[in-house]
Amino acid sequence: MDVDQLRKENEEKAEEEQERGPIKSDPGSAPVGDAVEDFHNRDALAFGIPAHRAGTGEVQHDAARWAGPQAFRADPGMNNGVDNRHQSWQVESTAMELFAEAVGADQTLFSTNGSTLNVHVALLAVAHPGESVVMARNGHKSAFAALVLSGAMPIYVDPVYDERWQVAHGVEPDELDRVLAAHPEAKAAIMFTPTYYGVSADVKSLAQAAHRHDIPLVTDDAWGLDYSFCSRLPPSALESGADLAIGSVHKTLNGFGQTSVLSTQGDRIDSERLELVFELEQSTSASALLIGSIDAARRQFQREGEELLGAAIDRALLLREAVELIPGLDLLPESVAGGPGAFAFDPTHVSIDVVGLGLTGFSAADWLRDHQRIHVELADHRRIMPLITFADGNENIERLIRALRELAKSHAEADPAPDYDIAAPAELRMETVMLPREAFLGKTEDVPWRQSAGRISAEMICPYPPGIPITAPGERLTEEAVDYLEQIVAMGGMVEGASDESLETFRVVA
Ligand SMILES: Cc1ncc(COP(=O)(O)O)c(C=O)c1O
Repeated sequence: MDVDQLRKENEEKAEEEQERGPIKSDPGSAPVGDAVEDFHNRDALAFGIPAHRAGTGEVQHDAARWAGPQAFRADPGMNNGVDNRHQSWQVESTAMELFAEAVGADQTLFSTNGSTLNVHVALLAVAHPGESVVMARNGHKSAFAALVLSGAMPIYVDPVYDERWQVAHGVEPDELDRVLAAHPEAKAAIMFTPTYYGVSADVKSLAQAAHRHDIPLVTDDAWGLDYSFCSRLPPSALESGADLAIGSVHKTLNGFGQTSVLSTQGDRIDSERLELVFELEQSTSASALLIGSIDAARRQFQREGEELLGAAIDRALLLREAVELIPGLDLLPESVAGGPGAFAFDPTHVSIDVVGLGLTGFSAADWLRDHQRIHVELADHRRIMPLITFADGNENIERLIRALRELAKSHAEADPAPDYDIAAPAELRMETVMLPREAFLGKTEDVPWRQSAGRISAEMICPYPPGIPITAPGERLTEEAVDYLEQIVAMGGMVEGASDESLETFRVVA
């Protein structure tokens, strides 16, 4: 058979199929959801995965008891229902193009393994094994894992530490410039902005600094995807000039858990390499339920983002006003923006200092959960942070205010605040003496924690939240780091990533 002839016939067939496909490339459509509906409207039946048959079978699913039968109906196979095996209806690719247009990117990819996957992919795309990247030291643990996966060597740059609030903000552009000048070998700069506490760095100046050194700026803006959809929020990383930006759809828009997007612009990121490394990491059976929720979030926020996110800001401001009147509580104020490392602030991250009640953030969070059935997004050694989103109506806010008043009342007579004298990041900084990949994946041994100072860490140990490792693989451990971790655990913090969660032993390079 003539192969050229066969290829031509297949191409013609694919074109015809695309024309017959179920979707439109129009911002008012949601291609994935439209294709799922079309699958059911056509009375299609797929003898492929998922085995649950997307609501076309006979067996009732146990999980439908709490997830509802619709969750299953919304989850046909991406390549045997939502699209066909050649993907010639271009359902997901069209949805990704529409997303890219909505956020001003040239390309967007959808992850069903959270921003964690996208952070891995970003690092794998920008550095070859053994090459250096300049990375802010306040990265989420996924970035340190990405160093292990990629084999890149980090040159850490310190964010500004705010002594008043004992919290790290963003990296100052001059500091990035200085580190890049000292390290012309660096292949990319990686920044984490906004922080968990809602504080953004000056991304525009950071991008200019990276570009002056002819390298891309990668931003993990997991907490800032909504900035593209509301003019009352800080400028988005892409709008500010980042070459690659990562946003969690489930953190700020209405994607299901684990949904995230990676977007690029310009020509500093090799898009072919990016797509190849993305394919290494993404599941071969990504869920239509998850992918469809990314697509639907884009459509909804493109249409209603100004209104929905604006309402979230208004409600967060109401909460802030109420908190200011509660004795013993202290707010991380909007006025942090403008200070060093803090270019802009997202008021929906309502960080409430509870030191005045003689509590740690950990114990205040536990009290709210046990006595008021209220969970908060973040608790640290001195504050709690309820996150206010577009989904919170007035009732939620009023309930939270009542709960905070009760918290204050119940602790009005409490003993004075315990000693919160914790080390600043500068005191904890350790020297990186080995590639994180070699330290993590090479030969290791466990040593009693008091004997670990001077040894090279083979693990990352992070108080969670915020999930920023205190020790990263490849760093030479110090007494200060060991003391700090012990102090955080004693205060009620959770520690993740340690091979021995009791912290009696540390895993070090053998
Ligand atoms: C800055 C940052 N990057 C990446 C992640 C990982 O995101 P995900 O949990 O969606 O994998 C998080 C999670 O909290 C984060 O805060």
